[in-house]
Amino acid sequence: MCGIVGIVGNSKAADILVKGLEKLEYRGYDSAGIFVADSSTDHLVKSQGRIKDLKGKIDSSVQGKIGIGHTRWATHGEPSEQNAHPHTSENGRFVLVHNGVIENYDELKKIFLESDHFYGETDTEIAVHLVEYFSKQGLDTKEAFKQAVAEIRGSYAFGLIDKEDRTVIYVAKNKSPLLIGLGEGFNVVCSDAMAMLEQTNQFVEINDGEIVIVTKDSVQIEDQTGTIIERSPYEAKIDLSDMEKGTYPYYMLKEIDEQPATMRRIISEYTDETGAVAVDQELLTSLLASDRIYIIACGTSYHAGLASKQIIEQLSQIPVEAHLSSEFGYNMPLLSQKPFFIFLSQSGETADSRQVLVKTSEMGYPSLTITNVAGSTLSREATYTMLLHAGPEIAVASTKAYTAQIAVLTVLAKAVGEAKDVLSAKSFDLPMELGIAANAMDVMINEKELISQLAIDYLSTTRNAFYIGRSEDYYVSMEAALKLKEISYIQAEGFAAGELKHGTIALVEDGTPVIGIITEAVTAPHTRGNLREVESRGAHTLVIVSEELSKEGDQIILPVVHQFLRPLVSVIPGQLIAYFATLERGYDVDKPRNLAKSVTVE
Ligand code: F6R
Repeated sequence: MCGIVGIVGNSKAADILVKGLEKLEYRGYDSAGIFVADSSTDHLVKSQGRIKDLKGKIDSSVQGKIGIGHTRWATHGEPSEQNAHPHTSENGRFVLVHNGVIENYDELKKIFLESDHFYGETDTEIAVHLVEYFSKQGLDTKEAFKQAVAEIRGSYAFGLIDKEDRTVIYVAKNKSPLLIGLGEGFNVVCSDAMAMLEQTNQFVEINDGEIVIVTKDSVQIEDQTGTIIERSPYEAKIDLSDMEKGTYPYYMLKEIDEQPATMRRIISEYTDETGAVAVDQELLTSLLASDRIYIIACGTSYHAGLASKQIIEQLSQIPVEAHLSSEFGYNMPLLSQKPFFIFLSQSGETADSRQVLVKTSEMGYPSLTITNVAGSTLSREATYTMLLHAGPEIAVASTKAYTAQIAVLTVLAKAVGEAKDVLSAKSFDLPMELGIAANAMDVMINEKELISQLAIDYLSTTRNAFYIGRSEDYYVSMEAALKLKEISYIQAEGFAAGELKHGTIALVEDGTPVIGIITEAVTAPHTRGNLREVESRGAHTLVIVSEELSKEGDQIILPVVHQFLRPLVSVIPGQLIAYFATLERGYDVDKPRNLAKSVTVE
């Protein structure tokens, strides 16, 4: 949700900022802008639309040694050039970028400023006007910035430049991610290390409430009391080549293809040389002491939580509940005596999940974040972290993180179950079964030709579609439907197959695509029955079925894998169907409208 970059001390500032914004475009892509300056000239360039539109407006005269940039996902105010960042104060002296939401901006406007100060509709503008306001009261820029930040309630990562001192970027953060990168003779600021990896792999984390003064050769971190904090940099271990599309037309296809390799990496990361599952001992002890696991997540990660519930319960014998973060925080169920919280988050930055983590930590409960991003906010703030090892996921539609989350949760459940002597865990050969599942995923991935044709036959013109299944297949249906709707814009629903006849079947008309997922022997006849019910009302049905349960005429056949690992394989046709339906309908697979990859506002 919005990405910010900054650089000080490099004569290629404009170039580096734009390249950084391109890497952050997954965070928002409705408008963008940069401000660059050297000692005597400065340039502010903003554009509605994508980074490529911004680039089209930047000519060779736009140069400078210091600068800030922003790619926006609109929260307040429509996407427009006027509302695009950087924003400038009324006298033009201060320039600022912001990621987050200023909750009390209306209140602050009333207290401090006249309405004619404002040229746009964003919540951000108040911040830059406040800096000017406090500066006019006689404070130096650092103090004016601190004072402005102290008045602001909400989430923010700010980068501020004062045109009267073009050697400093002032930075502050609360709840929104922000890092400082250390270069040779220059320093950078970014929402995500990915943006500046070409410049450096040395990054310094910033904590909420801190103010940072960044010059070309110094980074000074101050806490709220003004005490200087010493903090060592860490090395970002991301391979630059992992972030490239290579010969793939879209990141989503690359990421779908990477899933089997991710499974194999998870096996090697979480097993020792004897093949035994290896999980942090303290984490294990904490889980063993718990009486219920609460999985908290959003979107695809929530679906991964649902799909893992049965696996965890069967292997660990600990009851599991999966909850939507945005609901849980404000509508908390009666908790068990010894709850343990697992936060599933690809990005590790999702604000809805973070607000729950803050609450449950205040309540004193232990937590684990399972994430793809080392050093992310949720991973730093939870008691324990496990990494997905999936490599950067760039496409907005999540694919490899979903399967990696299920696999890592299975590793964890196996470790807990073994420690508790649970028979089903002891007899579950995780490296072997996950290896078999990885091979089965490869088989499905190689069915692109068939799946692409089915996507064209079933989904090229339809307005709506249903995925149906029971039990685990229902949870996978929810994920397959989310993939389809978010990128192809087909109104798709994942439904409990048995529930259709209780109302929703009224939506089925001649030609409505209904895709059934069938991987369980007990529920197979019932889901097939539900498919017949919709067929007799005109639905165009398609069956995704495990080989051992398949019948003549079924279209997509899934290789047999261990029952715990079926969701890893049965989701792949849904991912590919969404991809090919979107291509067929002519939309941008990687950057669907209205969405952003990392949702850092509640
Ligand atoms: C859908 C998708 C989203 C995310 C959700 C949570 O394809 O990517 O639904 O799963 O926004 O994001 P994370 O996992 O980063 O917390």
